[in-house]
Amino acid sequence: MSTLDWWRTGAIYQVYIRSFADGNGDGTGDVAGLRAKLPYLADLGIDGIWINPWYPSPLLDGGYDVADYRDIHPDFGTLADAEAMIAEANELGIKVLVDLVPNHCSWDHEWFKAALAAEPGSPERDRFHFVDNGDEPPSNWRSVFGGPAWSRTDDGQWYLHLFDSSQPDLNWENPEVRAEFLSILRFWLDRGANGFRVDVAHGITKDTSWPDVEAAQILSNTKQPNHAHWDRDDVHEIIREWRAVLDEYDDRMMVAEAWVAAESLAKYLRPDEYHQSFSFGLLSASWNAADYQDAIREVYDEAHALGAASTWVLSNHDVMRHATRFGLPDDAEWRTWPVTGPTDLLDAERGARRARAAALITLGLPGSAYVYQGEELGLDEVWDLPWEVLDDPVARRSEGTQKGRDGCRVPIPWNADGPSYGFGANGSWLPQPDWFADVAADQQIGVAGSFHSLYRDALHVRREHLIDDAVMTWLDLGDDLLAFERGNGVRCVVNMGATSVPMPDGEILLTSTPGLADELPSDTGVWLRPR
Ligand code: GLC
Repeated sequence: MSTLDWWRTGAIYQVYIRSFADGNGDGTGDVAGLRAKLPYLADLGIDGIWINPWYPSPLLDGGYDVADYRDIHPDFGTLADAEAMIAEANELGIKVLVDLVPNHCSWDHEWFKAALAAEPGSPERDRFHFVDNGDEPPSNWRSVFGGPAWSRTDDGQWYLHLFDSSQPDLNWENPEVRAEFLSILRFWLDRGANGFRVDVAHGITKDTSWPDVEAAQILSNTKQPNHAHWDRDDVHEIIREWRAVLDEYDDRMMVAEAWVAAESLAKYLRPDEYHQSFSFGLLSASWNAADYQDAIREVYDEAHALGAASTWVLSNHDVMRHATRFGLPDDAEWRTWPVTGPTDLLDAERGARRARAAALITLGLPGSAYVYQGEELGLDEVWDLPWEVLDDPVARRSEGTQKGRDGCRVPIPWNADGPSYGFGANGSWLPQPDWFADVAADQQIGVAGSFHSLYRDALHVRREHLIDDAVMTWLDLGDDLLAFERGNGVRCVVNMGATSVPMPDGEILLTSTPGLADELPSDTGVWLRPR
């Protein structure tokens, strides 16, 4: 067993609670459903779970619109259920990370309701960004989901929302806001939470002189440091306050969702700030050894130099599932492809092969690996959901150009038979496709060669051979091969080129496609130990 902190080497499974498992048959996943699946996760070899927001919410952004930070949405269960689930998970050796959403709350939150009922200039309005600016919005800022980032109230003031208009941004210059979140952190830490995933960690402070941003920096994914509303220097003071609270407790951690430039990331990882930050480079790297190496280097070098842990992510609830992404035509942009196509050029087999090989990369690298629910079943994106069932504000706000993120949020198929493929006793809140029967968990568990078996084997081999240290070195085995060696000599080699190569030397621990021996074909990978 490793002596490093659990999160430095852990495999952390992301639970999109609404779509994971439905315990009460109302078509929506819940805490009871999750609790019943904890043994499944323990058997898979998971060290921790991160649960997407589970708070009371009108669910206008899947729960990232929080109406009460200290309770559980009635559709998901009760606070007592949540506490019992955390305790049970911990007994099974699974840590639990709760999603903290500090940038904005819901327009149903008591504070926002009080703000609307109060006068301009009142203390209630000061917890948000309410601004007078006549008929024009105070700045040209755009919502990440499309459309303006400002909406107007009946009395003529504008309020800021970097996301949906139902998600008013909180004013982090307001001492009450700051104190409130310290108390929310304590609330969950006192209930046993092992830590937090912090939403939009790079966005919570703003330049409140409301400057227009240049056209090139308007995009939500701009990585400009000290931008008017992203990655601002004054965010770090707040992070340090949070960290001090976590440090009052034993063994707790927080991971940042910070879409920032690699050179900025280091600041978030200083010893008195985040324990780790997601790195999203592999979400956009092209499938070739040089690009992957660059994306990995950027993260590993930075984290290693700081003594922080790298994190690896192939999928999450905001992006197209990678089994499908890897099967798209080379020049396709996954955000728009479900609308623009060409959908007949999808190569699902290539996608699956690459997804299997990629698992050996992310699970073979030092650091923690985040696994998005269903990834272990090799699930594809349900990219052809009809417009009328879409729930994501991205679909609503993007004027027909993007279908949004529901295709990766379709409830999990646990069984080939039965209502909603074993998700629950009745239907599911998003329709599930017929092909879910073939990929359901019960068709894969214990089946040699299945995706599930690959993940389970990989997670167990990883525990045995790949977490004893946090170091790696690159190997040069040829341009098409992504190859690195861990401190104990275990090697990961993935053939990202078009033709087979001879199997590299060593004793095979695991191959991404079963049965490989003398050759490493295109889009396959292997873990080897020295003979
Ligand atoms: C984060 C979440 C995303 C959410 C947004 C607003 O990016 O991952 O799902 O819509 O923040 O809270």
